[in-house]
Parts: sequence; structure tokens; C-alpha cells
Amino acid sequence: MKNKEEKEISGSIGYESIKADANEIKVDDKKIINCRADLNQLVPFKYPWAWEKYLTSCANHWMPNEINMSDDIALWKSKNGLTEDERLIIERNLGFFSTADSLVANNLVLAIYKHITNPECRQYLLRQAFEEALHTHSYQHIVQSLGLNEAHIFNMYRKVPSIRNKSSWALPYTQSLGDPNFKTGSTKNNKRFLRDLIVFYVVFEGIFFYVGFSQILSMGRRNKMTGIAEQFQYIIRDESMHLNFGIDVINQIKIENPELWDINFQKEIINIIKEGVELERQYAIDTMPNGISGLNANVFYEYIQYIANRRCNQIGLPKQFDVKENPFPWMSEITDLKKEKNFFETRVTEYQTGGTLKWDE
Ligand SMILES: [Fe+2]
Ligand SMILES: [Fe+2]
Repeated sequence: MKNKEEKEISGSIGYESIKADANEIKVDDKKIINCRADLNQLVPFKYPWAWEKYLTSCANHWMPNEINMSDDIALWKSKNGLTEDERLIIERNLGFFSTADSLVANNLVLAIYKHITNPECRQYLLRQAFEEALHTHSYQHIVQSLGLNEAHIFNMYRKVPSIRNKSSWALPYTQSLGDPNFKTGSTKNNKRFLRDLIVFYVVFEGIFFYVGFSQILSMGRRNKMTGIAEQFQYIIRDESMHLNFGIDVINQIKIENPELWDINFQKEIINIIKEGVELERQYAIDTMPNGISGLNANVFYEYIQYIANRRCNQIGLPKQFDVKENPFPWMSEITDLKKEKNFFETRVTEYQTGGTLKWDE
């Protein structure tokens, strides 16, 4: 049983009855969690960063089937085009990502959305959910183009321990939110919600994706499986935005609810990030048991630690790992949003004009 105070603090969900005599919404009424203002009125904006991310993401629209896969198909089917190690990288990464993006989408729609009580953030979440669908579509498109055994790939998250361990580690942090009786409002539950947001945005999308991203992109840089590498470049651009949105939400919740960010909670989060780093290290070993072109699991471990330090810094925690340099500076060129925007400029423009309705006069 929830006490009266907790019920009063709990926020709206969006389907409350419409009051005819309610006052107009003021910016100050709005909050990321536990807001009681009407959630069906988008404006006035309180968080312009959420709306801007929504607009940028829409302008960056792309579709997986527009990318030419013919060179990849030829290379995959040729006998000596790829080594067994390179094939393993492609298959295992498809194995992880093909189910991981569905997991993220389900978490967004079924667990996170309900508890984010701000319409401009929800607008972005709806866009993000669609992008996760595009990413799963992209992996399906790759599997189909290469003629891979789809059951084998989509089942890897059950069969390959390093893939399964990442997904099963994250699942409890979505199940707790999927509980129909869960409500934010109390300090304990607000912490639980904030922790689960950090698990998904900072660890799952912010650490678990990066070994796979850099492995596929490094193949693309060596002119191998360039269609897959291009698909991944679009996905990485979307994912950089998801991560940045998640970090903004997390930091805003911290500002609005400073009591949540106590020392014990910070320690809990640091442990979670360290667990994530270890799982990603195992994944690096498993996807690349033998080195390829100067890359090996140790270099990836350095990279994971570098990324994890950055994630800590982004949510206001001290760095946890003794690594100074990014071993893959070329990755930061791709994940840097400003440079990415230039990289994809032609395509963005196409979509911005292509989507406009034209009427014959
Ligand atoms: Fe995704
Ligand atoms: Fe994502």
C-alpha cells in the first residue's frame, strides 16, 4: 500500500480526465519525473534540448534498404574474400545487435515512457523508438542480403554466452519498471528509475554498443563489408543522439531531485558501470579471439575503459579507469555529432526536401 504523500507526489501518465476549468500550463509546472501538469500539451517547452534533438533526428532520417549491399554480398559469397575471423565478427555482432535493439525499444515503450512525465521528452522517445525499429530492420536487411541463417543469428543471444550475458544482465533493470504496480514518487522508487535509465542509456547504449561499432567500422576502413559499415554509420549517428538525450535526462533528474544522488547511490552506479565494462571485455574477446590488423581484445579493452571514463564524466562521476588516450581516434570522428552532420549532409538535405508535399497547380 502506498501512503497518501506518495500518491500525491506521483506524476501524471497522460490519460487523466480532462478538467474544463484547469489553468494554462506554465513552464515552471513541468518536470521530467513526477510532474502533475497535463502531458498532452507539448508547449510551452521547458527543455529545448529535447525538442532540438527530436528535430535533428527527424532531419537525419534514413532507411536501411536504401544502402547498396551488392559489394558485401559478393565479398561474403566469395571463397577467399574474408577470413574466418572476419566472418565471426560480422556474425556475432549481428547476433548481438539484432536482438539488442528490440530489447532497447521494448524497454523504452513498455517501461521508460510511462514514467517520463514531460511531453517534449516523450516526443523524442517516440522518435527514438522508431529509430530502434529501423536499427532492427537494418540488421534483418543485412542478414537477408547476405543469405545468412536468420534463426542462427537471431538466436545467438540465447546461445553465445558473451552475447547472452550482456542482455540478461540488463533485463532485470527493465523488468522492475515493467511491473504494473511500480510508480515513481518515493525517493526509493525515483532512485530505482534513475538507476534503470543509467543502465540502459549509459551502459547498454553507451558501452555495450561500442566494441561492435568499432569492429564493423574498422572493417569498413579496410574496404571490407562497406555496405554493413555504412548501415552502422547511420546507426551510430542515431545512437550518439540517444546517448546524449539519455545523459541530458539523467542530469536533469539529478538537478530536479538532488536527494537521489547520494554517495551510496553513486557507488552503486560506479559498480554497475564496472560490471558493464567487464561484460563488454568478454564480448570483445569472444568476437575477436584472434587479432586482426593490429586490433585485438586488449586494444578493445582499453577502448571500453576510455569510453566508460567518458560516460562517468558525462553523468558527473569521477573517472574509474587508468587510460588516457583513445586508442581509436577515428571512432570519435564518427561519433562526434557535429562532424557527423557534415558527413551526412547530402543525405539530410535530401530527406528535408524529399519529405515535403508538393501539389500540382
Ligand atoms: Fe538502436
Ligand atoms: Fe538506441
